Amino acid sequence: MPILDEIKKFDINKCLRENFHLNKNPFTPKELFSDGLTADEVKTHDRVFQGRKEIVESIITGIRAGDSYKSVLYGSKGVGKSSILNLCLYALSNDYITIKIRILKEDVNEKVFQKKILRAVATALTSRILKTDGLNLESIRKKIQQFFKPGAVKELDATAALAFLFSSDQVTYEESTQDKEAINLHLGPVPIGFTMKSEYVNAAKTMTSYAHIPETDLMRILKSAHKLTWEFGFKGIVLGIDDGDKLNDAELERMLLNLLKGMFYADAKYHLMVVCARDVIELDVKDLFSDNFISPLSKDDVLRALNEMYKSESVGEKEIYDFFDKEVLAELYEESNGLMRDAVILCGECIKKACSEKKERIDKDVFNSVRVREEAAAAVKLMTMNHISTEYKVVTYLMENKEGYSSDENFQKSVGVIQSRLTQILRELENKGVLKSRKEKRRRVYFLKGGIEEVLKY
Ligand SMILES: Nc1ncnc2c1ncn2[C@@H]1O[C@H](COP(=O)(O)OP(=O)(O)OP(=O)(O)O)[C@@H](O)[C@H]1O
Ligand SMILES: [Mg+2]
Repeated sequence: MPILDEIKKFDINKCLRENFHLNKNPFTPKELFSDGLTADEVKTHDRVFQGRKEIVESIITGIRAGDSYKSVLYGSKGVGKSSILNLCLYALSNDYITIKIRILKEDVNEKVFQKKILRAVATALTSRILKTDGLNLESIRKKIQQFFKPGAVKELDATAALAFLFSSDQVTYEESTQDKEAINLHLGPVPIGFTMKSEYVNAAKTMTSYAHIPETDLMRILKSAHKLTWEFGFKGIVLGIDDGDKLNDAELERMLLNLLKGMFYADAKYHLMVVCARDVIELDVKDLFSDNFISPLSKDDVLRALNEMYKSESVGEKEIYDFFDKEVLAELYEESNGLMRDAVILCGECIKKACSEKKERIDKDVFNSVRVREEAAAAVKLMTMNHISTEYKVVTYLMENKEGYSSDENFQKSVGVIQSRLTQILRELENKGVLKSRKEKRRRVYFLKGGIEEVLKY
């Protein structure tokens, strides 16, 4: 059949519905508890989210019990760090101002960083005030007036609070038509009709106009932000900084933690959660941050999570076990090393593969053709046609001995090459998806990737 007709005929949704009782493919990786979910989505995420009880509890308790709990989260790519961060922020969002920031390379710079954080905190607070008090502008106005009442607050603090409000995307002002010495503050789209003395305003503008806000001013601004937060009935401010580990540069990561340390040192009443890579924590910020290693999930947790994902899109009472062979799920867990992202992607690929082959079950055949990349399968097939090739010898050695490393003389002898060449071949075979490896002390140990043996046998 011509390709265009073939494509037209192949309807993945029809297959998902008829063969797998699914509305759509539920196995797409996405962070759990991300911002802006509907109530129903939160319920689904809550069912999918497994394990992590201890770590989540210790973070939440740390925050609720003190006034400046700071922690770093680290762990493998795709293990579930962001989801934990999101969950903690979500769980605290009722009575705390919670903010999530994804950090980028260009943010790790003293000038950009301060302003980015200030702006995020100020925007979060003002948006939240507007949302909570609805359009009850009168009450907002009263609270702000109360806050700035002469005598209740020192002039410098009032200036700092105003500087903080100006950092927000939600706050604007215009000069008053009646009083030359005053301006009208707007919060959100509607003016709150609050009048400020222009000398305060000018001082606040100066405070934020520097490329780099002087430390004493910055401290004052952060403090007044915290006071404003209380004024509006929130218990505190929680900042979640994600993707510190995506900077891929230890120097930048260290700088990020030091910038945070400088900004939120000891008595600053802010709570921090920072995702970063491990080697950085061991150095100079241990005194301030408690560290949390995020381990891969257990097999039971991964399978439960996958089943809940399946159920979230299923029509009827079916479960994942009705379509996936038990052994496949066990191997799929091994293959993913407990990293949920990898497990989810593999499940999704299996379903797509089964649909393209018009199958109604995910058995070992489907799973193997998914996990062994085409490039790897082709490389292995080629080897089996040439038994004197070094690659073939490497692969058969690993089949017999389960694993091997390039400095092993037996391995070198049986392949007939010196160490440097063996290292090279092992690396190439890993890149092609034929081998996998793990680091063991100072050496790298290689073994056959799951499914490769089956390809070798045919
Ligand atoms: N506790 C959990 N239970 C079930 N599924 C989870 C859990 N945590 C994460 N996942 C799933 O795992 C995948 C990866 O999660 P997440 O994005 O949170 O990981 P990450 O560690 O932040 O990844 P990255 O290193 O790429 O930033 C997502 O598909 C998510 O739905
Ligand atoms: Mg993440």
